[in-house]
Amino acid sequence: MITMKNFIAEDDPILRQVAEPVQFPLSEEDEQLIEKMREFLINSQTPEIAEEYNLRPGVGVAAPQLGISKQIFAIYLTEFDEEGNVTDVIIDEVFINPRILKHSVKKIALSEGEGCLSVPRSVPGIVPRPKRVTFEYQDIEGDYYEAKLTDYEAIVIQHEIDHLKGILFYDHIDAENPWETDDNTSIL
Ligand code: CO
Repeated sequence: MITMKNFIAEDDPILRQVAEPVQFPLSEEDEQLIEKMREFLINSQTPEIAEEYNLRPGVGVAAPQLGISKQIFAIYLTEFDEEGNVTDVIIDEVFINPRILKHSVKKIALSEGEGCLSVPRSVPGIVPRPKRVTFEYQDIEGDYYEAKLTDYEAIVIQHEIDHLKGILFYDHIDAENPWETDDNTSIL
């Protein structure tokens, strides 16, 4: 199983590379990787397992974070109760070779900034991103899909797509005025 030990260091150059497109049909290696990435996200959101293996809870994980420079990421986005137990699954999907087709001019940012499993510290500042994105991707069969996401879900998908381009969340933070927003950016 994937644990935090499988995540490469924040300063590893792989995190800054543009990841390679994935060929279909998937290799057995890719299939296993995908299965493990999804399992990791579920484990990381299951309080007993996360505690036992010291997993930081994660909504998304991209292959480059594990040292594999391929255009693959998994998202497991849920709603949970006060004890941290999952009550509803919003997105449970693997995205391959994603490409943003359209995005809004209006931006959105999380009030407390963003975090990342590859960044073992908190980096203060808001991370403005387009509020709406339309993107295409392939699933594990290689079939093409187009999806449109807004607000929090749009933030999550853009954070992960960034990983495939060698971009980390804090690249978007204004170093001089980390908490300042403009009229175009709403806070979530
Ligand atoms: Co990240």
